[in-house]
Amino acid sequence: MPTTAPRVFSGIQPDAPAHIGNYLGAIRNWAREQDRYNNIFCIVDLHSLTLPIDPATLREQRLVLAATLLASGIDPHKSALFLQSDIPAHSELAWILECFTPMGWLERMTQFKERSARLGNERVGTGLFTYPALMAADILLYDTNVVPVGEDQRQHIEYTRDLAKRINQRFGEIFVIPEALIKEAGARIMGLDDPEAKMSKSIAASSPGHAVMIIDSPDDIRRKFARAQTDAEPAVRFPAGPGVTNLLEIYRTVRELGWEQVKEEFAGKPYSELKRGVAEAVIEALRPIQERYREIRQDDAGLRRTLKESAERLAPIANATLTRVQQAVGLR
Ligand code: AMP
Ligand code: TRP
Repeated sequence: MPTTAPRVFSGIQPDAPAHIGNYLGAIRNWAREQDRYNNIFCIVDLHSLTLPIDPATLREQRLVLAATLLASGIDPHKSALFLQSDIPAHSELAWILECFTPMGWLERMTQFKERSARLGNERVGTGLFTYPALMAADILLYDTNVVPVGEDQRQHIEYTRDLAKRINQRFGEIFVIPEALIKEAGARIMGLDDPEAKMSKSIAASSPGHAVMIIDSPDDIRRKFARAQTDAEPAVRFPAGPGVTNLLEIYRTVRELGWEQVKEEFAGKPYSELKRGVAEAVIEALRPIQERYREIRQDDAGLRRTLKESAERLAPIANATLTRVQQAVGLR
């Protein structure tokens, strides 16, 4: 990896096992493009404290996710993979960024509005509100050029850019301005039980039919697709409703086909055939990942070592940025 290659940074929450939305919208792209960039991937455990989570779950899911990322092709020789909480500069920079973020900017974040509306303002912690400032800290600490994510993160990255520009204007060239990288295919996979809702780990925790997890068994995957919501039509017709469109989107992204090919393949076919087709395509794509996952989980000590080594290599970069900011704002 040449040091002049653009820096990629992306993060993923260890609140629950990753699902196929995470895989198709983010992880698979990260793994495939590793040779083009200088990569940092972060398991954002501090972000996972923004919604209620059991300590044992958080501890275990960090390892599950680390193993899932490695099994999906993230290569520790090409990419850094670390735990956010191992580098305290993330929390320290986040505080400073919060102090430079107008409340109104955070009040407009759709992810916050949706989640706080679902849970009620008296029940969500303030961390859910300031969440984007911690995400901005993640990105800005490493002079990131490119942030590959799914569609749902676009607004958070816009905020990161606006904030970085605001601080640069006031204090000089402190931050590199990052750009979102969002692929057209797979950027927004919807829930199988509710195609109006984005597939999300937090919903999957209470409704297992909502999402197919990367580490689900083939039988579970078949069952979940068999129960996926479609509509009252007997067969696939175009324009298709949201549930059918989502199944077709999963299929075309997994198989890397164009819409025309997929339409031709399934037009007029009964929904049962579409569901079986998608299930088998997903099972086939996940099989090698699941095999590697099981091997990697044989050695949790090695997994922890990989995470620590990355954090040790990255801490000086993060600390240098933090020092630059502290000097600029008058803390040093
Ligand atoms: P999260 O699970 O929220 O930590 O998301 C990790 C990555 O997966 C981010 O880049 C998200 O944009 C992406 N992602 C999450 N859910 C989906 C989805 N339903 N479809 C596509 N990408 C997603
Ligand atoms: N907020 C992101 C999500 O839920 C996760 C995340 C945290 C992230 N920090 C990041 C993504 C930095 C990209 C860059 O999906």
